[in-house]
Amino acid sequence: MPAPCRRKAERSDMKDNPLGTEDNPGTGTEILRMKGITKEYVMGEEISHVLKGIDLSVREGEFLAILGPSGSGKSTLMNMIGCLDTPTSGEYYLNGKRIADQSEASLAHIRSKEIGFIFQSFYLLQRQTAFQNVELPLIYANMPDRERKRRVREVLAKVGLADKMDHYPNQLSGGQQQRVAIARAVANNPTILLADEPTGALDQGTGRQVMELFHSLNDEGRTIIMITHDRKIAEHADRIVSILDGNISEGDLDDA
Ligand SMILES: Nc1ncnc2c1ncn2[C@@H]1O[C@H](COP(=O)(O)OP(=O)(O)OP(=O)(O)O)[C@@H](O)[C@H]1O
Ligand SMILES: [Mg+2]
Repeated sequence: MPAPCRRKAERSDMKDNPLGTEDNPGTGTEILRMKGITKEYVMGEEISHVLKGIDLSVREGEFLAILGPSGSGKSTLMNMIGCLDTPTSGEYYLNGKRIADQSEASLAHIRSKEIGFIFQSFYLLQRQTAFQNVELPLIYANMPDRERKRRVREVLAKVGLADKMDHYPNQLSGGQQQRVAIARAVANNPTILLADEPTGALDQGTGRQVMELFHSLNDEGRTIIMITHDRKIAEHADRIVSILDGNISEGDLDDA
């Protein structure tokens, strides 16, 4: 099992220098670095430049929001971060590994060990209970039976669903389904929780509950990267970067 995350109080060093630089890296470990990432699609005669040179550094324990309007390249960038797609050019290091050097098998391993994915539309298996949905990635990870059952109960309790473990997705509200998806994403103790519009399918109140859950996971030291078009949701994060037309910049552009 990976070492448990450090609590935020133990990481006050990061508050002093949340961004860090190469010259002055601070003490929080950099777990993600992108340099000059581009993505181009060729469509007939046209080349569409979707990502135009993304530089991004994320440190352990950060809660980062990537904010941008529809079509700005958010999901394309999320697919790069999650090693679901390869860039046209640029360098990407995740947890010290150069992603371009990894085999398909190694990428699959990285996706299942390092990244906990959360999507707008939950993607739960409808014929499986909440318990079984959360258990599945742990079966893939070969976690022994007893430890696995204990871990599933633990994370479902953590998201407030101890009494709903045997419910099927269609017996749960939208917010509860998203909490099952979050439990599933954290079950394997990934390096990064990566969420694409995690409140997009939820009403405001339910969305707020999901954000509270993100806060409590982040307080325990979990690194979160959340992609959203919604400024109010982005403001829950400790740090915002904006993406516009395939370019990224630090902060909320509207505050500039
Ligand atoms: N496979 C593809 N081929 C060509 N163009 C693509 C492809 N995938 C995405 N694009 C283009 O890249 C741009 C960014 O798309 P992306 O899905 O990353 O946007 P987004 O910021 O996630 O938008 P939304 O908020 O609507 O989800 C869009 O203009 C889209 O048309
Ligand atoms: Mg998108």
